[in-house]
Amino acid sequence: MNNKSMNNVNHLLLLLLFFVVTVVSQGHAPFSIVKEKVTHLHFFYQERLTGDNPTAVLAAKPKDTRVDPSNLLPFGAAYVLEAPLTEGQDPNSKVVGKAQGLGVSADQDTTIVVFMVDYGFTSGEFSGSSFSVMSRNPLLETDRELAIVGGRGKFRMARGFATLHTNYMNITSGFFTVEYHVVLFHYE
Ligand SMILES: *[C@@H]1O[C@H](CO)[C@@H](O)[C@H](O)[C@H]1NC(C)=O
Repeated sequence: MNNKSMNNVNHLLLLLLFFVVTVVSQGHAPFSIVKEKVTHLHFFYQERLTGDNPTAVLAAKPKDTRVDPSNLLPFGAAYVLEAPLTEGQDPNSKVVGKAQGLGVSADQDTTIVVFMVDYGFTSGEFSGSSFSVMSRNPLLETDRELAIVGGRGKFRMARGFATLHTNYMNITSGFFTVEYHVVLFHYE
């Protein structure tokens, strides 16, 4: 690089620095952009696939005669979900929120669902806030992890992860209880 272009680079760097300082010093953001918080959440997801109010319903399935009719999750099936989140493992324990969204069967070979789900809370410190999951969810693995990509309310700009452990599973009744440990980085 010659002297002139070095000078140009220096100018550019100075301008950039000025811009960064200006943005950081303006206190007009609707949330604190500098104070990141870390929140841990613990709750249980209660799945009930049978009965009068199933927590997941088949909304679309592939139009393909090769699909085995006994397979509830053929490649291409889409389920709409609304499931209670409880404080304890007991399905009758206090409801603290609900999971709402879509689970799509998106693997040609095994049972892997991709979750696009909003986890909203209705009690406690985070009542009215929710975080958003967009992640693969291999349902049949006892332990798995979901990616958290955003949030609302107190969970604005959230990102993080949830580790899942299936505590109870009855394939016949379609009753499942899944324990969630969540780590969230957010700004409110
Ligand atoms: C699983 O669910 C079926 C159908 O509701 C029930 O008959 C059976 O006792 C349950 N199994 C266990 C281990 O709870």
